[in-house]
Amino acid sequence: MSGDIQTRVFKVDPQRPEPQIIERVAAIIRKGGLVAFPTETVYGLGANAFDESAVRGIFAAKGRPSTNPIIVHVGSIEGAQESCSAWPDKASQLAAAFWPGPLTMVLPKSTRIPAIITAGRETVAVRMPAHPVALALLKACSFPVAAPSANRSSEISPTRAEHVLKGLSGRIDAIVDGGATIIGIESTVVDLTRGTITILRAGSVSRGQIESILNECVEYNSRPLNDTEAAPSPGMLAKHYAPRARVEILETPLLISQLRNTGSAKVVLGVLARTADAVSAAKELRGSVVRKLADESTGYAQQLYSALHELDEQGVSVILVECPPMNEEWRAVHDRLKRMAHVDPSD
Ligand code: TXA
Ligand code: MG
Repeated sequence: MSGDIQTRVFKVDPQRPEPQIIERVAAIIRKGGLVAFPTETVYGLGANAFDESAVRGIFAAKGRPSTNPIIVHVGSIEGAQESCSAWPDKASQLAAAFWPGPLTMVLPKSTRIPAIITAGRETVAVRMPAHPVALALLKACSFPVAAPSANRSSEISPTRAEHVLKGLSGRIDAIVDGGATIIGIESTVVDLTRGTITILRAGSVSRGQIESILNECVEYNSRPLNDTEAAPSPGMLAKHYAPRARVEILETPLLISQLRNTGSAKVVLGVLARTADAVSAAKELRGSVVRKLADESTGYAQQLYSALHELDEQGVSVILVECPPMNEEWRAVHDRLKRMAHVDPSD
C-alpha cells in the first residue's frame, strides 16, 4: 500500500452509532478492506482476522514488523472461543469480570487464526472492547477482527480520528470517527498460557483486580525491554509509543529548577506538567509549550497521547515530563513514559 488510496471518514454517534453507517463500514471490512475504529482505549486498525491478505495489509499500512503479533477483537464470548483452541475457567472468570473492557487475554490459538496474526506463535491475543462503536462493528461482522492500534509502527497510539488520519491517511480504506477515546492508553495484556499468570503489558485493568478475580498471584513480565529475540510480547520492545521529540522524565523539583535555570529555551521545548508549580515555571520560560495533565492516573492516561500528538504538531524537539508518583496506580502510565524516553543508540 503506497499511500495513494482514498481514505473515507465516517462520522458516527459514539454512544448510538447509526446502524446504516456501521453496515457500510462492516461491508468494507468484509471485502478485505482496512478500517480504523474507536475502542475505549485507543483507535484500532481492523481487518477480517480470517482473511490473511487483509491482515497482511495491516502490516503494510502500519509498517509493522511481521514479528509483532496482532490482537483479535471479538463481539461475543463465542467469537473469542472460536479464535482459541482452549478456553480455561480462568478465561471465563476474567471475561465475566472485565469484558467488554480493556483486558486482552493470550490463549492457545485456534487453527482458524492465520499464522500472520500471531507472528507464527501458538498463542493468540483476544479482547472484547467496551466501546459502542467497536461493539456494533464487531457484531455486524460474522468473523473476529484483527486490530492493532491505528498508528504507524512505533509512533504514538491515536486517541482521536485526527491522529489516525495524520499517520494513515491514504494508506487505509476508512476511518470511523467516534470522537475521543475514554481510557487513552492500550489494554492490559495478560498471558494465561504459562504456569503463572503473567501481565505482558500494564493497562487500566490492574494486577490487583486480576488477582482478586482469580484468587492467585499474578506476575509482571520481568524480561528486559531490549530482549528482542525471545520477548514474550514483541510489541513491548523499548522503542514503542514514541513521539518525534526526545523525551526526558524529571522529578518535580528537578524539572522546576531546570526550567528556572534555562535563560530562554534554545530549542522548542514541550513540557508535560501535573502540578501548578511546574506549570507556572514552564510558563515563565520563553519558547516553551506547556500542557497541564490531570494529577490522577485515570485522567492523566486519558489525556497523555493527545497532549503528545499536540506537542509533536507544535514542532517541539524536546519534551520534559514531570514524573508522576511512583506507585502501582500509575504503573501503566510509567510503562508508556519509559518507552517514550528510551533512546535506542542503534536507531
Ligand atoms: O487497547 C488495545 O489493546 C489496542 C486496541 C486497538 O484494542 N490495541 C493494541 O494493539 O494496542 P497493538 O497491536 O498496538 O498491541 C498489541 C500488543 C503488542 O504488544 C503485541 O506484541 C501483543 O499485544 N500481542 C499480540 N498477540 C500476542 C501473543 N500471541 N502473545 C503475546 N503478545 C501478543
Ligand atoms: Mg500499538
